[in-house]
Amino acid sequence: MKLEKNIMAELIPVLNEDEIKKLVADVAQNISDDYKDSEIVLIGVLKGAFVFMADLIRKITIPVKIDFVAISSYGSNTVSSGKIKLTREIEIDLKNKNILIVEDIVDTGLTLKYLIDYIESFEPKSVRICALLDKYERRETKINVDYPCHRIEKGFVVGYGIDYAEDYRNLPAIYHLKQ
Ligand code: IMP
Ligand code: MG
Repeated sequence: MKLEKNIMAELIPVLNEDEIKKLVADVAQNISDDYKDSEIVLIGVLKGAFVFMADLIRKITIPVKIDFVAISSYGSNTVSSGKIKLTREIEIDLKNKNILIVEDIVDTGLTLKYLIDYIESFEPKSVRICALLDKYERRETKINVDYPCHRIEKGFVVGYGIDYAEDYRNLPAIYHLKQ
């Protein structure tokens, strides 16, 4: 994909398409190995994780079911507000199932904390987390990412499903948005 010059000027490459492909294939392999002989339900967190989720499930070699939740934190700021609202609920039965939450980015961890509490109310057998990007230095909760693909430091990133105020989701690679 060719980017307009004026857009490119604001975007600093973080991961290119090949690097993302490799990270996704590696994490899918680990997941397939760890859950060998069992079934998992992948729960993607909309909207940011939709591209990652689509690529990830096609590299997982064990049976999977999928569902999505949508979460919004109020405002379109680049800093998490911590005020979280569920805007799409789970539709499939999670009781006694192995759940893998699929997130684009774990930042403060507040979104995941909220989501894990919600998912645990369905009495699953286990709950683990897979995240494309882990901003572990910014964590404000005790959330541990079981399957982090790539760790980044602070800064705001976009592309590969990840947005800034709903823009940039269609970029095939991941960029740091210079502000
Ligand atoms: P947390 O609740 O602070 O962990 O925030 C997690 C959510 O904030 C992610 O699912 C993203 O939607 C969003 N987010 C955090 N960092 C970034 C970023 O660098 N770019 C775009 N969205 C981000
Ligand atoms: Mg998100």
